[in-house]
Amino acid sequence: MEKDIVSGLEAVHKSLPSKYFYDANGDALFQAIMNMPEYYLSRSELDVFLHHAQDIIQAFDPKGYFEIVELGAGDGTKTKVLIRKWLDMDLEFSYVPIDISKNVLDQLASEFKKSFDHIQIKPIVGDYFNVLKDKKEMTHPKLVLFLGSNIGNLRGENQLRFIQSLSDSLNPGDALFIGFDLVKNPHTILDAYNDKSGITKQFNVNILARCNRELNTDFNLDNFTHYPIYDPETKEARSYLISTKKQVVTFPASGRQISFEAGETIHTETSRKYTKEDIEQLIIAANLKPVGWYYDCKHYFVNVLSIVK
Ligand code: AVJ
Repeated sequence: MEKDIVSGLEAVHKSLPSKYFYDANGDALFQAIMNMPEYYLSRSELDVFLHHAQDIIQAFDPKGYFEIVELGAGDGTKTKVLIRKWLDMDLEFSYVPIDISKNVLDQLASEFKKSFDHIQIKPIVGDYFNVLKDKKEMTHPKLVLFLGSNIGNLRGENQLRFIQSLSDSLNPGDALFIGFDLVKNPHTILDAYNDKSGITKQFNVNILARCNRELNTDFNLDNFTHYPIYDPETKEARSYLISTKKQVVTFPASGRQISFEAGETIHTETSRKYTKEDIEQLIIAANLKPVGWYYDCKHYFVNVLSIVK
């Protein structure tokens, strides 16, 4: 972690990898974000699941036992709604949530066992691609869930590379079910990352607080301001932490010192938004066949089901 953080902060344009948001504190803040009125993404995706769960599984058409693999499962609130509906349809499947956080997976597993009598749940702590590679030999079909527009955290070529690697680690007939946040009124998008209650600010600053806790750095959290933007031309929402004064921060383990000018930026997160055409291009370039497009009532969000060719 220190190596990643220091190399991000030593670059000409400072940045930090957004995966470091999610310690126990960050997980809790993200759950609070999902409940904010401004953060429409979670409600929109939930609306998709409430209205389209049956259509989705009919389009996948597993014909017998299958595995639902979820990448970056988080707390599973929305996935529970899907699973509930699919269990009610008498389908036979097991649920395999994959996450790098054991803490999150333990919570999720006990939550699911409480909610469902007969759920087969097999959580795996690990890297998505390694886990999927290990599963490639399995003969039963797999439905891979990548929800919440997490794909939007990737920039440029990395989006296609990611979907392509997923597709390569699956077998023909397996399916990918991906959530994408759609382009819409730019004010609505910006508000989702700039809530009045300041929760997103806390979430953003938590990455520095985490450095102080785990790496013993001396970031003064009051000397950084949360600055989110939405650029409708690149369709990227980006979050920054901006140094409000000239200052120096020390990483004691390595002795590295990072200096900040007043007004200097740290780019902490990208959350890309998509048009239908953007999504089609990505999916087709990754050698997948899109077979179902499921929208919420406001058309703020879409979940796309694609089959591996
Ligand atoms: C979980 C990555 C989809 O980018 O919208 C929410 C994270 N960051 N508010 C997003 C997030 C600030 C979220 N994702």
